[in-house]
Amino acid sequence: MSVSIKSAREIELMRAAGKILAKVHENLEKELRAGMSTLDIDRLGEDIIKSYGCIPSFKNYNGYPASVCVSVNDEVVHGIPTKKRLIREGDIVSLDIGVIYKGYHADAARTHGVGEISQEAALLIERTRQSFFEGIRCAKEGHHLHEISNAIAAYAESFGYGVVRDLVGHGIGTHLHEDPQIPNFTQKSRGVRLKAGMTLAIEPMINAGRFDVAWENDDWTVVTQDGSLSAHYENTILVTSGEPEILTLTEGEVGNT
Ligand code: MF3
Ligand code: CO
Repeated sequence: MSVSIKSAREIELMRAAGKILAKVHENLEKELRAGMSTLDIDRLGEDIIKSYGCIPSFKNYNGYPASVCVSVNDEVVHGIPTKKRLIREGDIVSLDIGVIYKGYHADAARTHGVGEISQEAALLIERTRQSFFEGIRCAKEGHHLHEISNAIAAYAESFGYGVVRDLVGHGIGTHLHEDPQIPNFTQKSRGVRLKAGMTLAIEPMINAGRFDVAWENDDWTVVTQDGSLSAHYENTILVTSGEPEILTLTEGEVGNT
């Protein structure tokens, strides 16, 4: 396994890609409301991505047909947008988006509540978000990858949640998926040693119930096996010798590290 170290020039491009992706998320979140179809969300998202001069990286990736993964309630990730699936008040909607700017990728996901949501749902969203910040506390040069995985898992599991095991985070750069893989569940081996200049997409996927997932017949949409709610939170980060730099942080979001 070889993990690429980005040059100063590449880091500038990754920063630019990340800033744009944060804007895409902010703009799309403002439009999210009950009555929209998941396809409406995808179309809007794709337009916003293009308005910033970026390419939607998910579209046609291994045959994925859309620019935004829209995963509702018990859908974990990779929901395929359709015009039949309408968003309803009380839903939780995960939006996972990837952009390419001048050859460099950024990848980020957020879960939003639509209208009034249950307290169970609100807590799941907030704790999934916080699990990311628990994880990146040790995303510094000299630490090992397992510290990130173990911190995410320990935090999420302390609430009795199931941490998805079948999908993981990843390195990112000139490709959407680069080495290393970044599991969100407890690791026995310590994994790679982190170095300044690594760029990583860390993305806890957390179920209110058990961790087991299943694939729908469309071959993409991942759902919880027990039908429980699931939330997703992802940022692209840069490892440095000090605090990690979150490249896709959206407005008003403060890392509680
Ligand atoms: N954030 C997801 C990932 O890193 C999204 C990929 S969706 C795909 O794997 F369609 F592009 F596969
Ligand atoms: Co990702």
